[in-house]
Formats: sequence, C-alpha cells, structure tokens
Amino acid sequence: MDKRPERRTAPKGPGARRSRRGRLAAALLAALTVTSCAGGVSGTPGAFGTRDPLFPRLGNDGYDVEHYSLDLDYDPASGILTGGATIVARATKDLSAFDLDFAGMRVRDATVDDEPAAVSRAGDELTLRPHEDLTRGETFTARVRYSGRPRTITDADGSKEGWLTQPGGGVLALGEPTGSMAWFPSNNHPSDKATYDIKVTVPDGLRAVSNGELASTVHNGARTAFSWKVKEPMASYLAMVAIGPYEIDDKKTTKSGIPVYAAVDPAAKDRASGVLAQLPDILTWEEERFGPYPFSSTGVVVAPAKSAGYALETQNRPVMPLDQFDVSTLVHELAHQWFGDSVTPATWRDMWLNEGFAQYSEWLWSEQHGGPSARERFATEYAKDDGDEIWAYPPASPPTAADVSGRPVYVRGAMVVHKIREAVGDEKFFALLKDWPRVRRHANASTKDFIHFVDEEAGKRLTEVWKTWLYGDGKPDAA
Ligand code: TRP
Ligand code: ZN
Repeated sequence: MDKRPERRTAPKGPGARRSRRGRLAAALLAALTVTSCAGGVSGTPGAFGTRDPLFPRLGNDGYDVEHYSLDLDYDPASGILTGGATIVARATKDLSAFDLDFAGMRVRDATVDDEPAAVSRAGDELTLRPHEDLTRGETFTARVRYSGRPRTITDADGSKEGWLTQPGGGVLALGEPTGSMAWFPSNNHPSDKATYDIKVTVPDGLRAVSNGELASTVHNGARTAFSWKVKEPMASYLAMVAIGPYEIDDKKTTKSGIPVYAAVDPAAKDRASGVLAQLPDILTWEEERFGPYPFSSTGVVVAPAKSAGYALETQNRPVMPLDQFDVSTLVHELAHQWFGDSVTPATWRDMWLNEGFAQYSEWLWSEQHGGPSARERFATEYAKDDGDEIWAYPPASPPTAADVSGRPVYVRGAMVVHKIREAVGDEKFFALLKDWPRVRRHANASTKDFIHFVDEEAGKRLTEVWKTWLYGDGKPDAA
C-alpha cells in the first residue's frame, strides 16, 4: 500500500506571488544603476535573475559563489534573528555592482573586500555596490550583517517555506524553491552550488541542527553555538536549520561507514523509532542501486507532526515532520541525496529529474520488498482517466512556478523513468541508475543533458519516450 500522502506540499491556495510593486521597483533600480568606471575598469552592474524559465527573478548573474559562512544568532523570545553572511565569490564579468536574493529583514551594513559597500534594496533584490569595481575572474568577499524577524514565504501552491517558527521556540528554516532568502542573502538559484559553514547560536534548552557535519558546540553563558560544516557543494534551496529541543541519535554509521546524525523531536521519539531504525538499511539499499552515497554524513530531522506540512530533502539530512515519517517517504527523501542534492537541476523546469527519480525509487523499493512492482504502480497510474491531474501538463514542462511540485512532475516523471527501463531493459537501466549520479556528481544537469546521456548509454534514441512521455500533452494513447 502506498502510505505516501497524495500531495507532498500543501494544497493549492490563493498563492501569494511576489507583489507587482516589488517587481516594478527592482526593474526601476536596475534601469537607474549607472555604469561606473572606478579604478580604470569599466564594470557594469550584474543583472538580477538568472532567467530561470519558472522563477525569472531568482539568482543573479555576474558572479559565482564558492562559499557561504553564516553566523546566525536566534532569540526565540523576541523572534529576532541576528545574522552575518560572508560570501566568497568569483566575478564572472567586470562588475560595478551585483545583486543577492534577500527577502525581508533589515540590512545593517555590508562590505566587499573589507571596504564599505553601498546597499540598496528593492523587492527581494539586495544590491551591493563595492567601493571599487570588481574585475572578471577575481575572487571577492562580501559581508552582510542583518537582523529582524525572518519571513515565512507562501508559495504559489500554498505551501509555506522560509523561516517557520514553531510552538515552544523552535524553528524550521526551509528553502524549496525560494525560502532560503528569508534567512540569508544568496545567489538563490540551484545552478550556483557552494560549500557552507553554518553557525547557529540558540539559548539553553534548544539545539540547532543543520546540513553537513557538526564541527563544534560551544557553550557560553546561557547560549550554545552549533557550528555545521558542509564540505560538498550545496544548492541554496537545500540549506536547512532546525531549532528545537531535539534529541540526538548519532551513534550509528551505515554499512559503508557514513555517519548517521538523526535529530528527533522528543514528542515524536516513540512513534519515530521503528522507521528511524531502518535508515541505515535504506541507505545501504540505495547505495546498491544508485552507487556510493554522495555526501560525508547522513541522517534525518524528525520534526513535530504537522510542522512543515511536507517532507524536504535538505542536504545530508532531510526534514520530515512526524506525520510524513514513513518508510516510503524516507526512501524518497534519501533518494533525493543522489537525485537533486548531488545531481542538481539546472533550472526549476528540470524538477522532474528530482521528483521523477525519487518517486521511482519508492516504486523500486516496493518492488524489491514484497510490494507491488514498478510495472504495477505504473499501470495503476496509467489507468487514471484523461481528466486526471497527472496528465495536466508534461513532466518536463511545468507551465508555472506553482506546478513544480505538481503530480505530473512526480508521478508522470516516475512513469518516464519506467518507460526508459522498458526501452533499454533491466541490465542497462540499473547501470544507468548508477552512472547518471556518477557522471554528474555534485554538479548540475538539465533535461537536455539527461536525454543526451540516456541516448548515449542506450546506444539508440528513445524518441518515443521523450516525445510522448516526457514532453507530450495529455495522457499518452498507449502504455
Ligand atoms: N521536494 C519535496 C519532496 O518531494 C517536496 C517539496 C516541498 C517541493 N516543497 C517543494 C517540491 C517546493 C517542489 C517545490 O520531497
Ligand atoms: Zn521529492
């Protein structure tokens, strides 16, 4: 039986899109920013927006981030977060100014290479104008200090992300697809992956869990600083902080020697223990199917029931509210460590490369653990009538931002994976499941890259699969 909820995100609501006024203001600012010629370099301002087909305002051009160092101090009593972000980046063109994505909060000041930088804000764009122009190829360090009550962002599909405060002083900071900009300034697009240091200071009684490995815990007065280190590149949407009275289980390692760090909400402890005990075996099964685990640690945050409303594949350790914490969903979120976290979509339109594979891994788990086979799961989905929402749009072209978490991306995405399996046969298919995460490890990939890769490995073009299942409108005529 499929215990996974029908929808991972909250049902569609009256989506709160970015305000029209915010968009206009940012456009005006960009138009008014003049080219400067300081220091003999003729830099132009880096534009905001990486021209993502679904989120055109996210991300920025003109630079490439190498490392984020975040220093976050949270006071649950007031709800105020005091933050410092140190961003090491390389200019990809001569720059007189550049943009970061940042929503809400108050920016106290900013520097670039230790010199004060001029700060301006419009909508969710934070523009820094350095004292001197930056030259293409040069590495620079930007520092931004900020404070305030971080925002909760409501997505076009009604789900909540960003900084989600919880009863009792806890927080879940989640960022798919846009929410990380509520708690730190970044180049907020999956195409710019970077390493991270994330330090979170919280009062006694609370603990802060994040991505990567816990490098130090420093107690000072009535507060503790938890310093996390993310050694492998990470997309900003996968950054996570969980604050709460979490209990830690860090005694296990996987068969392959990967340390497991699990944080469990105390109220969830008893009900979570059965599924939690299976985590190492699930990971071992996935390593056998998808190849070596791509990161230096794993685990999970079992958050309070109903806290986020969905599970999220945050890097190293997914966040899973207790009501979503079942084996199939854990298989799904851990599969994302290969499909999404290590191999990251080039744009948000390529989301089916994440969700199609994560969904298919649930089908494969079922097939290999006494449940219905992937073929049967496929048939059940195919039997749905023409008007069903899984046929609403092709998986590789969600029409709007609200559709990236839609059923066609997940279910029909998994159906595409199954059609590939049928077209190439099991032997090639299982080789492909390992080769794709290997050749694109810690990098980005587009749907086009994937098609090219599969056609090459198959030694033939899977034209029908791509045309009908991946890009075709409506329910395909024949399964
Ligand atoms: N990626 C999550 C999962 O399937 C679900 C999700 C949460 C999501 N928020 C999203 C998907 C925003 C797309 C966009 O495990
Ligand atoms: Zn998923």
